[in-house]
Amino acid sequence: MKIAFIGGGTMGEAILAALLEKKRIIPSSVCISDVSKERRDYISGRYGVLVTDDNKKATEGKDVIVLAIKPQQFGDVLSDLKGSLLSSQVVISIAAGIRIQTMTRGLGHSRVVRAMPNTPAQIGQGITGWTATPGVTDLQKEHTRTVLTAMGKEIYFQKEESLDMVTAISGSGPAYFFFFAEALTAAAVNIGLSPEDAGELILQTMLGAARLLEKSAKPPAELRRNVTSKSGTTERAIQVFEAGGFNHIVDAAVKAALERAKELGG
Ligand SMILES: NC(=O)c1ccc[n+]([C@@H]2O[C@H](COP(=O)([O-])OP(=O)(O)OC[C@H]3O[C@@H](n4cnc5c(N)ncnc54)[C@H](OP(=O)(O)O)[C@@H]3O)[C@@H](O)[C@H]2O)c1
Repeated sequence: MKIAFIGGGTMGEAILAALLEKKRIIPSSVCISDVSKERRDYISGRYGVLVTDDNKKATEGKDVIVLAIKPQQFGDVLSDLKGSLLSSQVVISIAAGIRIQTMTRGLGHSRVVRAMPNTPAQIGQGITGWTATPGVTDLQKEHTRTVLTAMGKEIYFQKEESLDMVTAISGSGPAYFFFFAEALTAAAVNIGLSPEDAGELILQTMLGAARLLEKSAKPPAELRRNVTSKSGTTERAIQVFEAGGFNHIVDAAVKAALERAKELGG
């Protein structure tokens, strides 16, 4: 698989590094285009791949073109590439809020994948929701999975509108857990623990709970009930969460994120 990245920033580098490490590509089959000379020098020095500042040149002869630029940089990149791509090439965008129609029209190209990863993708622990235009072939979908699974897990969705829901759940999701960890750390310090001890207790509790959820195959509600003995400490805490409208707050927050995702997509 020959691959070009337009944008060699945080995500472009993370995907490149993971693909090379997993030996899914070789350096000579990659070209990275970036406007920043500093980034180009760094990427070519560290990974031994070809670099350029010419977006169109980067895509020549490639099977897969990953657009790893910020949403506000799409206008420039789409017009650089407009009309130059072949039907044998698939374009994968990982940008939040850029609609498939914006890309097919902007590029004059019908084989486009829109993917929504999340930040743990940077360490290969992400999850990406993605969809593709009807023109994307089975082989191009396989190439797409090769790229996306370098960042973690992937789920294919038939409808593009599902990606707004993915954005509200797993795209923004890491921040929900970080926010809860922040609140729990503050509460731990308030009851007398040191920030260091609180941090260690909370990190391992989150990791342990996530792994237990993964391994036990039981739903979260059942695992929660298992630690909630009658008249015990957990029950008292959960009663306070419920009295404060925890479920309602989470529901409202997700709906707000969904609305914003729809707005960003125009
Ligand atoms: N970071 C994450 O964890 C994450 C998670 C999910 C989705 N995403 C999405 O991934 C995309 C990339 O994010 P990122 O964090 O990797 O951004 P980033 O670090 O800013 O990387 C973008 C790179 O592209 C370069 N660039 C700008 N304009 C260009 C152009 N016209 N042609 C070629 N290269 C150009 C930038 O150079 P300059 O810096 O000089 O402008 C920068 O080096 C975004 O759309 C974001 O929504 C990111």
